[in-house]
Amino acid sequence: MKRFYLESYGCQMNVYDTQGLERQLEDHGYERVAAPEDADVVLVNTCSVREHAEERTLNRLAVLTRLKAKNPALKVGVCGCMAQRMGGEIKKRVPRVDLVVGAQALPAVLPALAALDRGESPTPVVEPLDHFLPPPRPRLDAKNLKGFVTIIRGCNKACAYCIVPTTRGPEISRHPDDVVLEVQELVLRGAKEITLLGQNVNSYTSAGVDFPELLRRCGAVRGEWRLRFTTSHPRDMRPDVVRRMAEAERLAPWLHLPVQSGSRRLLRAMNRDYTLEQYLEAVDVAREAIPDLSVTTDLIVGFPGETPEDFAETLALVERVRYDTFYAFKYSPRSGTAAARREDDVSPEEKQRRLALLLDVQRRLSHEVNQAWVGRTARVLLEGKDEKRGNGLARTGQNKIVVLPMFDGFKPGRFVDVAIERAEGQTLHGRLVEAS
Ligand code: 5AD
Ligand code: SF4
Repeated sequence: MKRFYLESYGCQMNVYDTQGLERQLEDHGYERVAAPEDADVVLVNTCSVREHAEERTLNRLAVLTRLKAKNPALKVGVCGCMAQRMGGEIKKRVPRVDLVVGAQALPAVLPALAALDRGESPTPVVEPLDHFLPPPRPRLDAKNLKGFVTIIRGCNKACAYCIVPTTRGPEISRHPDDVVLEVQELVLRGAKEITLLGQNVNSYTSAGVDFPELLRRCGAVRGEWRLRFTTSHPRDMRPDVVRRMAEAERLAPWLHLPVQSGSRRLLRAMNRDYTLEQYLEAVDVAREAIPDLSVTTDLIVGFPGETPEDFAETLALVERVRYDTFYAFKYSPRSGTAAARREDDVSPEEKQRRLALLLDVQRRLSHEVNQAWVGRTARVLLEGKDEKRGNGLARTGQNKIVVLPMFDGFKPGRFVDVAIERAEGQTLHGRLVEAS
């Protein structure tokens, strides 16, 4: 039996694909191993979103191909977004790579491995296939209480900085029956939290079902569990749609709504396709419709032409929305995107300075927002034990970590009420509220 080792970088959708790949290989007589040293085949599922991610992966590939010195039969494959973007170019950077299969052609990994077995050297596959990997085998253990279900692949937007429409191709929604079946199966196997995934979940549409309706159908699956989704695009968050979304049962009060910039001028330059006013309205409507909603976002600093005034507007936006937390990235030019044709004119030092300023604000804001939880009761999912300190670990619907003393009947997967006593940075501290 052939042994394979898989590594995954990038977003949750890549994790989902990696698990699908794992299932396909296992269904065809391959056995998964936990270390590359023990494998006959090493596969890396890659990310292209920023140059940094690619550089790190190329270094990692150099390390992995060096294992061939000890095991000359070892085959090393690269799949996913970077394989899709770079194709045969990867072999120029890391010559001892044996297989390159792009994100839109992942089912081609299996035939390419068969070709390698026959002693052939398969050419890189980047031509999109019209079929997909099988969904991951739902597999949950006591610690792994969470399931993920990709509902829509690809992206039809054209944000000026983003490589994803190139690597993942146009949007394709999965059939709602397949999605609901997968959710049911995960719940049956004990999932307590399921996240619906897509680059842009709000543009989901299949068999006459739109995203709010899909949420309703998923949320109707009986059991004690909670439903999340990511990522939303502000353009598709019209007030009526947001209100319908909020009606789904079991919905966790958490919304990741990337804004990228607080400058109207930059939003236009980024081709984000919404105004700042529309964005703020979407947040307001969501907060009204979903009590205690946690709102998070993504921001880019140093987009071409970003002036100190533009950046000041981003700072002002962050203060205004009072995000529970956010992720901020330094702009990274991606060749082939519209923005890459513009001069990357914000210096690396200035990008770093703006990033650091944002992170300072984020720490303060998260602290303030979390402080407001002190004295309140939160419903949490018990997740596990902090072995070092002997505390229990749990998570609120808002996705905040709660540390609490262990108690009789503490069992990962149980939902309990916790009185929040203290907030420290991103973490809440509390204790069990005894059931009356
Ligand atoms: N440079 C920096 N950040 C980027 N992102 C996407 N493309 C780039 C880029 N070229 C960020 C966006 C997106 C997140 C997943 O990554 O903020 O929301
Ligand atoms: Fe990375 Fe984007 Fe591809 Fe996900 S879709 S792996 S974030 S490039």
